[in-house]
Amino acid sequence: MSRRPAKPRLAVPRPRSVKVALGERSYSIRLGYGMLADLGEQVARTTGARRAVVITVPEVGRRYAGRVLRSLRAAGLKAERLDVPDGDATKNLKQLGELYTAFLARGLDRSSVVVALGGGVVGDLAGFAAATYLRGIPFVQVPTTVLAMVDASIGGKVAVNLPEGKNLVGAFHQPRLVWIDLEVLRSLPKRQRAAGFAEVVKAGALWDERFFAKLERDAEALMRLDPQRLLPTLQRACAIKAEVVARDEHESGLRMLLNLGHTLGHAVEKLAGYQDILHGEAVAMGMVYAGRRSEQLGVAPAGTAERLEELLRRCNLPTELPRHPRSAYLEALRVDKKSRDSRIRYIVLRRIGKAEALELTAARILPANWDRRG
Ligand SMILES: NC(=O)c1ccc[n+]([C@@H]2O[C@H](COP(=O)([O-])OP(=O)(O)OC[C@H]3O[C@@H](n4cnc5c(N)ncnc54)[C@H](O)[C@@H]3O)[C@@H](O)[C@H]2O)c1
Ligand SMILES: [Zn+2]
Repeated sequence: MSRRPAKPRLAVPRPRSVKVALGERSYSIRLGYGMLADLGEQVARTTGARRAVVITVPEVGRRYAGRVLRSLRAAGLKAERLDVPDGDATKNLKQLGELYTAFLARGLDRSSVVVALGGGVVGDLAGFAAATYLRGIPFVQVPTTVLAMVDASIGGKVAVNLPEGKNLVGAFHQPRLVWIDLEVLRSLPKRQRAAGFAEVVKAGALWDERFFAKLERDAEALMRLDPQRLLPTLQRACAIKAEVVARDEHESGLRMLLNLGHTLGHAVEKLAGYQDILHGEAVAMGMVYAGRRSEQLGVAPAGTAERLEELLRRCNLPTELPRHPRSAYLEALRVDKKSRDSRIRYIVLRRIGKAEALELTAARILPANWDRRG
């Protein structure tokens, strides 16, 4: 009897690691394919925890929580799932209060671990709950969006929103482990994928010209989630964030460079009422504007913004600021409402691969003869 030859399996690249070097608070970011099955063992090893809660949203939990819970239980942990509603509005004080109540009801203590399974919303909320419950218990990030993988899950910034504004109550609480299974990106809606790539492009633009050039070669393959290209790309993006955070954990200087594209980006989000535009899309627009403004200020060579715009477009991202009057943008930019001359640390590009902060007034960022295409 002849056996049919085994179906050739698509080769997936082997897992890779990035270290976030923060002394005794150091941790690893591990990226690969099919990683969820091995999470439990790693969580047990890095935290020694006996009990875990997996915080997720229904959309993500439905697909992936089963694997995560099985893996945790196989490693000897008592593990349960806690769902929170989807959407940024879930990062609020009421939801936080409900998490504390659920933690108490399940008897979580300092030998327990909070596992955040989801995008940046879950990571920020679960992370802040872990940072504050019993003055802080261990937590592990299992990011499932591109944005959370390369940005939100790294660096320990955790927060909830207030009615008055986003991320106004928060803490620095580093995770014990960041565990990234790239397979989960297949179910992530394309628009969310693209938005996450804005932060990948940002990492190259502010830190590493060679990496940026690689993105220029691979953009279409990355949009298709080609594993051979995706793994090293996300690894490098994580490594850039890790390096910046390791040099400036509490955002006293260098870490500010990560705000490239975010000054205008936040204004765009605010003016849209945090609806219809994804964060990464707003950042893409803000970056192109920052590139153009850098050229006009004589800081960056001609062609810098063009390169950014072209790459972002190939990642299916918008590059032109929405039509609002200059006065609306100025209003949205002003941090100190009383002083017209207060300065904003605006991130400009010296060139692709090198960013720096300039202290500028809102009026200098958006000059009178401004053009929203920069
Ligand atoms: N802490 C930080 O340093 C930091 C940095 C950047 C952003 N953030 C925060 O991150 C949040 C944004 O994160 P986000 O962009 O990941 O948004 P998100 O968490 O809302 O996720 C986006 C959407 O994708 C869905 N989803 C997630 N993973 C999926 C998957 N694998 N398959 C199918 N659907 C999936 C979610 O249900 C959600 O609807 C904001 O609250 C922002 O403030 C924090
Ligand atoms: Zn961002």
